[in-house]
Amino acid sequence: MNWHGSSLLCSVVMIASFGVVAEAQEQPPSAERHFRESITRQRATSVAAGTVAGPRFLSYDPVFPPPEGETGLFSLSQNYPSSYDTDSPVPWAEIDFRVNWSAYLKEVLKYCLEGNTEVDFQGDKAAPRKWYHAPWLHDDSVDGSVKGKTRGGREFRHGLTRERRTRPKEVHPSQSATRLHQNWAVSLYNDRGGYTIGKVWLTPDGFPDPSRATFPDHTVSFKLLFSAAPIAEVPFLEGAKEWTANIAPDEDAHPPTRVDTVVRLLQIDVAVKDPRVASGSGWIFGTFIYDASQAGPSVWDKMVPVGAIWGDDSHEKRLIDRDGSFSNPYLKQSALNPALIEPAAGTDWGNRAYLRHFGLGGRLNGPVDNPASSCISCHGRAGTLGDNLPLNLDSGYPIPTVAGSEAASNLGKKEVQIAEFDAFFRPIRPGSHFEKFKGPDGKDRQFVTVDYSLQLAQGIRNFYQNLRVSQAPLRKLTRAGVLTESVARDLPERKSLPQVSRGEDEVDQN
Ligand code: HEC
Repeated sequence: MNWHGSSLLCSVVMIASFGVVAEAQEQPPSAERHFRESITRQRATSVAAGTVAGPRFLSYDPVFPPPEGETGLFSLSQNYPSSYDTDSPVPWAEIDFRVNWSAYLKEVLKYCLEGNTEVDFQGDKAAPRKWYHAPWLHDDSVDGSVKGKTRGGREFRHGLTRERRTRPKEVHPSQSATRLHQNWAVSLYNDRGGYTIGKVWLTPDGFPDPSRATFPDHTVSFKLLFSAAPIAEVPFLEGAKEWTANIAPDEDAHPPTRVDTVVRLLQIDVAVKDPRVASGSGWIFGTFIYDASQAGPSVWDKMVPVGAIWGDDSHEKRLIDRDGSFSNPYLKQSALNPALIEPAAGTDWGNRAYLRHFGLGGRLNGPVDNPASSCISCHGRAGTLGDNLPLNLDSGYPIPTVAGSEAASNLGKKEVQIAEFDAFFRPIRPGSHFEKFKGPDGKDRQFVTVDYSLQLAQGIRNFYQNLRVSQAPLRKLTRAGVLTESVARDLPERKSLPQVSRGEDEVDQN
């Protein structure tokens, strides 16, 4: 039978609506009704917003619905454009990023903020340019009732997803020696990014097509990363932009719940597809940290550039083992802001920001990122198995982004990252293409890369994970002849697909 045939259209498109219902069935009837109403309401909101694609993708995790009558909820910007404006200005493209990386990043940040700050980052309302969210980050199908596991799908206030947590003392010496702090983030793509997201997700058969994930030059995405750490522990967050977010409570709660919590903007990440690095990674990543001690009228004036990275210096192993905050003079493809290097122990930071670590061997990573990785190393591994279709027991398996394994409790740890440096820091070219990485059984498999977009990779993983745990679409697919009875029977029994990992944080360790 023809896998991509249009006869499947209806059944497969239904996946989006049935994807999460199976979980609700295990909940008490009133919770289930609330859950179903939450889905209906999200659909109504996106239709009202006039999205061409209709209410195709859910905005937030329906397992944690908003209170009755709540307004001003997060709405996924999913009216992905079928073309993009080739004349729109790209002022950073004039700046030599190797010489003046910080001016380059500031120009990119200005572009990201323009029109977005006025509408509080509701990308579909921004002018002069609209911005877009990646779909399928609303539901990671994590079973939050298992101790140590936390669901991290988009919350309903701002669409934030769960990030790696800040470790004790990781960003400030005044931090508690025992408490971890949650971080939650939301990202937006410009029209070039939105165009590509649409190509990958708005397919006739409803299954994502990773082979269409080649972003055009001057695609820009940025991420606003918020911390739940109190100002008393992280004084440089004083006066930072605040949002109320509906996130996990500080301590594990079983069964899982979420609570409204004030969070503060700690870090902004940017990623730019730049033709000047097309023969390398294709992308320039950069990051900013909020610093209360900076002068300036607005919070945006206090975002300090931390650094830029456009390659992993794949053959440079000097100082690879060194911890803490330092600038590695041997690196050619990473630049750091020396003013942010942590001062000697005992120095009073006041309300000033420093970084206590960057990435592996001084490669760029942000204040709350895994210190044994780098932006390029992790993002280069955005991708999914080449033979996801026809649907099989491994469909949706993502490329491992960090070395180690959850089972060995060494995922993304420094020792394994160094031991496997040649594999995890080797150059990956941009664009969607086939490449070999370690598959589910530890042997090499062909994967399709998705051009450094971990939001595409995680969304594809979530989509297939959701199929595994939801009986309704599996039954439909079996009836439509898409799935053999035996695959349909075995899929839900399989171990969960791994998350697109940041390392260290898949299982709560405290
Ligand atoms: C160890 C893994 C890891 C590292 C290191 C990392 N990221 Fe990411 N990043 C992710 C994951 C996973 C996502 C997608 C999931 C999400 O947004 O919830 C993501 C998403 C993003 C996005 C949104 C668009 C996209 O590409 O998916 C941007 C922009 C971004 N990261 C920038 C950065 C920058 C800049 C750095 C370095 C300072 C960095 N990241 C380091 C794991 C990583």
